[in-house]
Amino acid sequence: MVTGTGSRTSNRNSSRSRSSGETTKSESQSSQSRRNRSAFSWGDNAGPMLGAALAGAAIGFAANYGRKFIMQGMDSTVGDWDEILAAEHDIALAIFDKMLATDETQSFKRKMLLMKLTHALDKHTHEEEMVVYPALREDDLATDADHLESEHGYIKTFIYELNEMGPDASSWLEKVREFRDLVAEHAHMEEEQVFPRFKKDMTEEQNARVTSLVNRDGFWMA
Ligand SMILES: [Fe+2]
Ligand SMILES: [Fe+2]
Repeated sequence: MVTGTGSRTSNRNSSRSRSSGETTKSESQSSQSRRNRSAFSWGDNAGPMLGAALAGAAIGFAANYGRKFIMQGMDSTVGDWDEILAAEHDIALAIFDKMLATDETQSFKRKMLLMKLTHALDKHTHEEEMVVYPALREDDLATDADHLESEHGYIKTFIYELNEMGPDASSWLEKVREFRDLVAEHAHMEEEQVFPRFKKDMTEEQNARVTSLVNRDGFWMA
């Protein structure tokens, strides 16, 4: 009777004897076939594996699109480009108000709100700098476009300073208040002066084109 132990021993022995050079023809062919598969083909199981990998990539891609659609839906409104941008101003100012309502014990909340504000302003300034300000320059409003774009530089500076000082700093609220004042004044100039001046001479096609470009830019930045 062959015991389990005997069988395992015998397998170990035969394996050892083969490793010393007695390779059979069929094993050699099988190993050659494995080498060929790994080097030059996807192998018998590659179809399902490749399918799974592609499905995974597709799910990731779709999830990213889904996230963008959700972010886009949350952050903007339907309407002309100037209405979209005005709604984004309101969103940013509302985040500032939440920041100003915190105290120094709420470091985590302050950090989260600053991240949210940074994302909202990044998206918004990108839409303006990549679409609206170039269109203003095309329409002989380069002085306004340059002034507004230089203020975006100070918006980034405030974000940098707030990140550097940290949420526990004693001057954090004062800095946020100064920052809010700059953004409110900047938004007011856009909404009340520059954008209406630009829009009143636009054709319907130009208006639709700028709206579409702002939406497209905002989608990729979401
Ligand atoms: Fe702006
Ligand atoms: Fe703006």
